[in-house]
Amino acid sequence: MSDHPQVRPTRRTVLRAGGVTAAGAIAAGALPATAVAAESESTVDGVEPGASVEITLRVNGADHRVSVEPRVTLLDALRERLGLTGTKKGCDRGECGACTVLADGQRIKSCLTLAVMRQGQRITTVEGLARDGELHPVQAAFIRRDAFQCGFCTPGQIMSAVAAIEEGHAGSDAEIREWMSGNLCRCSCYPNIVAAVRDAAKEGRG
Ligand code: FES
Ligand code: FES
Repeated sequence: MSDHPQVRPTRRTVLRAGGVTAAGAIAAGALPATAVAAESESTVDGVEPGASVEITLRVNGADHRVSVEPRVTLLDALRERLGLTGTKKGCDRGECGACTVLADGQRIKSCLTLAVMRQGQRITTVEGLARDGELHPVQAAFIRRDAFQCGFCTPGQIMSAVAAIEEGHAGSDAEIREWMSGNLCRCSCYPNIVAAVRDAAKEGRG
């Protein structure tokens, strides 16, 4: 969209070492879609321990057929089966928000849900935010406001911010702080994160 900043290299985009940097995650594109002809309604009923089930995950607009054990989290399915490593694993127990993705537009912690439970839902990860080579306004605002240091929390912060704005929970700094409180930043970039969310909210697209 013409009113969105173009994706372009910044100081941060060159800091790609380790694959967990912020701009790398911000700008990462989704992997090529694995075309799947039909929706799967796999069930875990009667599945032997250790056995896998075939499921279809709809991620960033594309259907992906994957084979997972019923105990596999959505986070692990995204990262390890689909190669979408923009979503980070921090605490792996629901405390840090690094793994935040959207499911049917609602923010969820992907470490706390099973992949088999999310069939048929529209999953959006940080890789799915950019459109036609243009960053999502929240991504652009994070870069403009320098709202990250190590970047590990950044994809989760961005996904949570997209949802918070869409929910109408970004009307003031205090509101942003409250509704983003499930996303922790060990680098303590909170003032810049709040500023970035405020900017993006003013632009009107979450
Ligand atoms: S990795 Fe999911 S909340 Fe920390
Ligand atoms: S930027 Fe390092 S954890 Fe948030």
